[in-house]
Amino acid sequence: MEGLRLWILLTLLEGLFYLLRVERWRSLTAMSSLENLSHEDRIFPPSPEFVAQANAQTSLYQEAADDRLAFWSRQADYLHWEKKWDEVLKWEVPSAQWFLGGKINATYNCLDAHVIAGRGDRVAFHFEGEPGDTRTITYAQMLHDVKKATNALIELGIRAGDRVAIYMPMIPEAAVAMLACARIGAAHSVIFGGFSAEALKSRILDADATLVITSDGGFRKGSAFPLKPVVDEALAGTDHNVKNVLVVKRTGQETQWSAGRDIWWHEIVDRQSPEHIAQGFDSEQVLFILYTSGTTAKPKGIFHTTGGYLTQTSYTHRAVFDLKPETDVYWCTADIGWITGHSYVVYGPMINGATQVMYEGTPDSPTKHRLFQIIEKYKVSILYTAPTLIRTWMKWGEEFPADSDLTSLRLLGSVGEPINPEAWMWYREVIGGNNCPIVDTWWQTETGGLMISPLPGVTATKPGSAMAALPGISAKVVDDEGNEVENGNGGYLVLTEPWPAMLRGVWGEPERYQETYWSRFPGKYFAGDGAKLDDDGAIWLLGRVDDVMNVSGHRISTTEVESSLVSHHNVAEAAVVGANDAMTGQAIVAFVILRGGIPKVDGEELIKDLKAHVTKEIGAIARPKQILVVAELPKTRSGKIMRRLLRDVAENRTVGDSTTLADPNIMKLIGEGLKSGKSED
Ligand code: PRX
Repeated sequence: MEGLRLWILLTLLEGLFYLLRVERWRSLTAMSSLENLSHEDRIFPPSPEFVAQANAQTSLYQEAADDRLAFWSRQADYLHWEKKWDEVLKWEVPSAQWFLGGKINATYNCLDAHVIAGRGDRVAFHFEGEPGDTRTITYAQMLHDVKKATNALIELGIRAGDRVAIYMPMIPEAAVAMLACARIGAAHSVIFGGFSAEALKSRILDADATLVITSDGGFRKGSAFPLKPVVDEALAGTDHNVKNVLVVKRTGQETQWSAGRDIWWHEIVDRQSPEHIAQGFDSEQVLFILYTSGTTAKPKGIFHTTGGYLTQTSYTHRAVFDLKPETDVYWCTADIGWITGHSYVVYGPMINGATQVMYEGTPDSPTKHRLFQIIEKYKVSILYTAPTLIRTWMKWGEEFPADSDLTSLRLLGSVGEPINPEAWMWYREVIGGNNCPIVDTWWQTETGGLMISPLPGVTATKPGSAMAALPGISAKVVDDEGNEVENGNGGYLVLTEPWPAMLRGVWGEPERYQETYWSRFPGKYFAGDGAKLDDDGAIWLLGRVDDVMNVSGHRISTTEVESSLVSHHNVAEAAVVGANDAMTGQAIVAFVILRGGIPKVDGEELIKDLKAHVTKEIGAIARPKQILVVAELPKTRSGKIMRRLLRDVAENRTVGDSTTLADPNIMKLIGEGLKSGKSED
């Protein structure tokens, strides 16, 4: 009898696992228009002129394959170490330690090293404010500012190991604040200026920050927006450990003042000594925490340490962007609130002594010419941006770039989401004048630095493919069982060897680190992305395979938006999907079931209210584009929402196989209910 029961149980479990696997595999293969791709005829080899001057050489791949650790040691040797490391790597899945025993100061490498070497007069940033104000800041000036800011942090009691939250617009003080923290071994936790008070609060609490650095506000589309009041709201009535709020004056907006807690940046920083001697910290000292969306409602505090992170970001920046620091003007359009801003505005480029453009505003203010005019004005030679912007430019039309001289450009980069071949070709022809290699760089907040990308001057590129793992990196595409797939097949992207800039964990949640990244395929890092190898073995990224959406290159968790919707008093249940969107890659579409027993509400008003609610809870980036009120949601017999079917509805497709639904009629009901009208911005 017992044996029979066990047999029935095992059979049921097996069936359930089979269904789950099929469901996951279906969502994997349905996720991209690239699904049938296994061959691309257009191939762009590097020009002989580019090859002749390229930083990267073909031999890098062989060097790294011959001895990976020796290869990474050579890259680490580019940095200034106060004490050299004793051991390159200590690795016990999933815990990596790089350059053990080494002592290093991140800020020293970004600033002091250049000034000491006589490069102090080089421009670090051409800052272009949104109202049109500009500042040119040399490496020497930046060092001077950072030393004073460092002394101010010390006066406020900040010490190595403390956490400092930074909530700023895209202004030079944001980089100064980050480098001042790093200089004394305090971990910064930058929170994107578009996040709401709620989101800011949860991040401040999770990191247990003792200081918040912010500004009165910033500028966007011709007007000032507030930041300090958001910090006030985040801290009000909360049991936190924030002792001070340091406020940069940017807009001159009125702001409430909490005496004893709030301090104007200029009042404390200006009176500090411009002297400060940087001390080396352990290679594994935490450099920063950066929160990113996961598959649950709670964002993950990804933390990175110093030596390995600096090694990989500076090496990849040199090799992939082909930086010639004396002559190039490099512009990465990312905000410092994201990992791209950390690794490829602050640390990588500054270690390499790059001259950069930093822009506070949006691409269409005051006109759609703005970014092209900035390229012409500063003679930008390397541009690094996201496909969503490229697609927006395509929509606006060629007349806007045509009005500016873009001939200074010599290399173009793309990041954040898969770039469709049409956008890649347009980028190449219209922005790059058919004359610039394109590097489509795949990586993540977790990887810290670039992982998959062409090497300019080496790789013949295909429009839409990130091509291959960089030297020193091992990326594979595996099937459901973890076996490597053959060329021409798709699967899951995994990283099979530790890399220097890898995350060291999820802040305060060691099990989550293990569970999220290392349990799906034991011993391998599971990136959460689908990928395909084409007939030549080139890697094509296909987007997320988990419940994470990618909207304009920003990661947003479906669960986080669902929780926010459900916290609205009118909503009983919600399911959120990322639907394909020609402009933003994916768009957030929400299906909600209203609570019973509430007074009848006006549909349009309610939807407006729900959108505003999500904006308030998370931030404008998480605002659903479309909200559909439904009577039921499609669920499997185990209660899992079948987002694949909802995506079919959101993308106006015929609804796919719904045989695993607990109630197969649901999709018909949803489809019929929706005919009565959809709401969209
Ligand atoms: O799905 C991949 C996508 O962005 C995710 C990482 O998001 P985040 O941590 O916010 O970092 C974005 C900037 C590095 C990845 O899991 N992604 C990033 N770059 C690419 C990409 N997808 C396709 N191609 C890329 N080049």
